[in-house]
Amino acid sequence: MLSIEAARISDAEAIHQLVTFWADRGDMLHRPVGEIFEAIRDFKVARVDGALAGCGSLHIMGSDLAEVRSLAVREDLQVKGIGAAIVAACIDDARSFGLERVFALTYRPGFFEKQGFRVANVMEFPQKVWNECVRCPFFTNCKEVAVVLDLNPRGDLSVPVARGG
Ligand SMILES: CC(C)(COP(=O)(O)OP(=O)(O)OC[C@H]1O[C@@H](n2cnc3c(N)ncnc32)[C@H](O)[C@@H]1OP(=O)(O)O)[C@@H](O)C(=O)NCCC(=O)NCCS
Repeated sequence: MLSIEAARISDAEAIHQLVTFWADRGDMLHRPVGEIFEAIRDFKVARVDGALAGCGSLHIMGSDLAEVRSLAVREDLQVKGIGAAIVAACIDDARSFGLERVFALTYRPGFFEKQGFRVANVMEFPQKVWNECVRCPFFTNCKEVAVVLDLNPRGDLSVPVARGG
């Protein structure tokens, strides 16, 4: 049975192993275990029958923007809806915080497009580029694609107001 939950501190080592597994294959960027401990409150984990099956984090970048990071699903559990469920949980979190946009930098833009994201120009996220990407060893040769989902938390304002009489 699949469940999506906030990560616990006891998940950090397993999250690190999962991210390292995919990062070693060039599918995502490495994250030091210390950084995962520090960011554990950002993480969601998927569990299948109690065991860690996947992870992903929502990192708030500013007043209107958050990033989905470190999204990974165990190799033996791919394409069973787990990645989509983790992203949906991150989006729910972003909405509950009143954020307007969620983005990701990814080698798998097609996956994110299936979750409603659109491909974007990375310069739509200058706080990411100038604070973090500049320190990345792949900065000048980055193959990641930016994707974004507009949440429009004020969308209710555009709903027509019912008029009486
Ligand atoms: C990318 C990843 C997280 C997707 O997780 P997953 O659990 O296998 O994907 P899901 O089963 O939730 O897929 C949801 C939908 O996206 C599709 N999809 C999955 N991977 C895809 C890909 N690489 N490209 C395009 N579509 C993809 C699925 O077919 C499914 O489509 P459907 O809704 O029509 O059925 C997973 O493949 C993974 O861990 N990859 C290695 C690490 C990685 O690349 N992380 C992303 C870096 S940001």
